[in-house]
Amino acid sequence: MSDKTAKLSLPNGEELELTVLSPTMGKDVIDVRALGKAGYFTYDPGYVSTGACESKITFIDGGKGQLLYRGYPIEQLADQSNFEEVAYLLLNGELPNKEEYEAFVAKIHNHTMVHQQMMNFFNGFRRDAHPMAIMIAVVGALSAFYHDSLDINDPQHREISAMRLIAKVPTIAAMCYRYSVGHPFVYPNNDKSLAWNFLNMMFSQPTNDWEPDPILVKAMDRIFTLHADHEQNASTSTVRLAGSSGANPFAAIASGIACLWGPAHGGANEACLNMLREIGDVSRIPEFIARAKDKSDPFRLMGFGHRVYKNFDPRAKVMRESAYEVLELLGKHDDPTFKVALELEKIALEDPYFVEKKLYPNVDFYSGVILDAIGIPTNMFTVIFALARTVGWVSQWNEMIGEPSRKIGRPRQLYTGATERDYVEISKR
Ligand code: SDX
Repeated sequence: MSDKTAKLSLPNGEELELTVLSPTMGKDVIDVRALGKAGYFTYDPGYVSTGACESKITFIDGGKGQLLYRGYPIEQLADQSNFEEVAYLLLNGELPNKEEYEAFVAKIHNHTMVHQQMMNFFNGFRRDAHPMAIMIAVVGALSAFYHDSLDINDPQHREISAMRLIAKVPTIAAMCYRYSVGHPFVYPNNDKSLAWNFLNMMFSQPTNDWEPDPILVKAMDRIFTLHADHEQNASTSTVRLAGSSGANPFAAIASGIACLWGPAHGGANEACLNMLREIGDVSRIPEFIARAKDKSDPFRLMGFGHRVYKNFDPRAKVMRESAYEVLELLGKHDDPTFKVALELEKIALEDPYFVEKKLYPNVDFYSGVILDAIGIPTNMFTVIFALARTVGWVSQWNEMIGEPSRKIGRPRQLYTGATERDYVEISKR
């Protein structure tokens, strides 16, 4: 904290001195809690300049294009760590030693199966249901199976719920795909990683031996790591708000999945690949750039721009490298979609509109190219984002619930509706 203050001259003539709190990294924050007592609210639609909580989990410097998980740069974690280890780090705050890592992995891998009754939920959906709709329903339904561990004030209940969510969401995600194509569900193999299991549960068949390619497993693991957490983004803030009421973690995570689905957020990877396909050829890029700049056209360049990053999203850089590797491995280096993506990035980054507004490729720009190359259907892209972000959502939820000063989130408003008036019966209207 700090001994800095901010002075505010209020319209009612009062002088208010507000405390300024200093972070370990990033901007100072002005504590406006005293404003309520002085008779005022703050007003910040979209929370552009509002810190809603204190957190020690993830830090982003949008100007530098920096992303740290518990202080570790995302580039180093993507290159040297793995998804299970990153999950341990985000949940516990430190990298595990060998024993801690092995115990954590064993714990996670022991919860990868879902109750056999869960299979019935899928049959209520049409085969062409969007998998995100199924994810919201089935993940929320998990709370109906674990009455033994829903006391959020019990750290052990919180821990087992966190393990269950991190371990079962990949299984449910793969089940969504298998259901859509009419293939039998594949059980997880607890001797393998979550990334290996996800690809195996997606693509293996009972009719023949098959192993996911190790390079694709590494690419999947890296995609999970890159998407695991990202400060107080819209879906994480949704999970925190839902959890602040005391709702159980399965319901809170289901609310995060619902929020992530939007094309302005996690749905952008699906929207971005569809956009790249619609562009189809580098010759049509100027037409789409013009539309993105046209204020009368709601079209935006999917995969570009970010509320916080006003420089390259560091995840996009790692993702671009992975895209090269995967496409090379699969002999798709001349993949037309990737070519359009590379050229679109180049043109957009030279265009004054994008330069002035600091619009750079974000995490969703290249992820779709990789997932498409691996053979994952476009409507599964956001499901994969939700799979990975479950680790961040659970970590942030756990941090919030563990705070002694936890309060239910309840924003105020600027009311501009009708002033008080009397009811008029219908015969007199
Ligand atoms: C994710 O918050 C997170 O951390 C999210 C995320 C995470 O890991 O959780 O990083 C994941 O959601 C990444 C973002 C994925 N979304 C997209 O790629 C969709 C396209 N991007 C835009 O919708 C937009 O950039 C947002 C939603 C991402 C950010 O919007 P902001 O911060 O509210 O910015 P804005 O809409 O106010 O844009 C500022 C200006 C506007 O122009 P002016 O009104 O100032 O004239 O930039 C323009 C916008 O019109 N603009 C774009 C644009 N993004 C912003 N113009 C064209 N194409 C775009 N993509």
